[in-house]
Amino acid sequence: MTTPAKTLFEQYLAPIFSRLIDREAILRLRDSIDWEQAIASFTNPQVVYPEYYKTSNFHGVKQGYLNVDAALTYDPITQYVLPPHETWVRESLIKAIHGAPRRILDLGCGTGSTTLMLKRRFPEVEVVGLDLSPQMLVMADRKARDAHLDITFRHGNAMVTGLPDGAFDVVCATLLFHETPPAVAKTILRESFRLLTPGGQVLILDGNQRTLRATDWLSNIFEEPFIRDYSQGNVDAWLGFAGFEAVRTEDVFWLNQLSSARKPLPVRDRAPTTTATDLTGGMAYPQPA
Ligand SMILES: C[S@@+](CC[C@H](N)C(=O)[O-])C[C@H]1O[C@@H](n2cnc3c(N)ncnc32)[C@H](O)[C@@H]1O
Repeated sequence: MTTPAKTLFEQYLAPIFSRLIDREAILRLRDSIDWEQAIASFTNPQVVYPEYYKTSNFHGVKQGYLNVDAALTYDPITQYVLPPHETWVRESLIKAIHGAPRRILDLGCGTGSTTLMLKRRFPEVEVVGLDLSPQMLVMADRKARDAHLDITFRHGNAMVTGLPDGAFDVVCATLLFHETPPAVAKTILRESFRLLTPGGQVLILDGNQRTLRATDWLSNIFEEPFIRDYSQGNVDAWLGFAGFEAVRTEDVFWLNQLSSARKPLPVRDRAPTTTATDLTGGMAYPQPA
């Protein structure tokens, strides 16, 4: 019987990461948690796992995020894949939030790294993190408790959250879309639109689609099952298609991009637009604000 060839991740990245991470510390953490009990406390039995999620081995890990080892190794590895510095990359999203939100939802929150930063930046605000992986939520909740931050973590599918219409002023997602088929990303944006209050803001921080298209080797080594489909897509277009306005995407250093957009206000609540009548006394043509 032939042994399957090692993947690029197994060949090159796994040996590097195994040197960089503190294996003993991870094992100590694993032994300090009653996983069966902790996972049960975050599992909503009504959640249905989408097919792509159950069947994909993200980063070459079997069972993807429904695996304790994936949750334990996520933070130690992620710090090395967001150059030039994980905190700076995540901060780009925090800094782009306008105004004074009252409720913020972090979709696909994982181990809660961005969620904790949101709560630190807006301590009075209700912050909710939602993820499909109870294992990741166990880690997120532990980090929030250690930091004395009051954050609600929910087990759920970002495509169909079950949360009420218009409940949030900001809905965001970090590093979620490169791990979903584009059809799922588009459904998540439609759900975000529903969840936002009119005038609310959506923020998507993820891999830079332009950079990824230009560097195929990156897509090869990270073993993300949907990264090529993601890089061929266009988050701006997906946001527009979901009904958002004021759509813009900017580079975050070299490897990431931040997209932001707004849910339109109902026409009656919009600021009056200047019309050509005001200027000429003639026919009324709407002028750009
Ligand atoms: C690469 S991790 C990003 C985690 C975190 N946002 C961060 O920035 O570190 C992707 C996360 O998305 C979650 N996820 C994937 N599809 C999802 C979905 N449809 N609904 C909710 N979470 C999802 C995974 O469980 C995983 O925790």
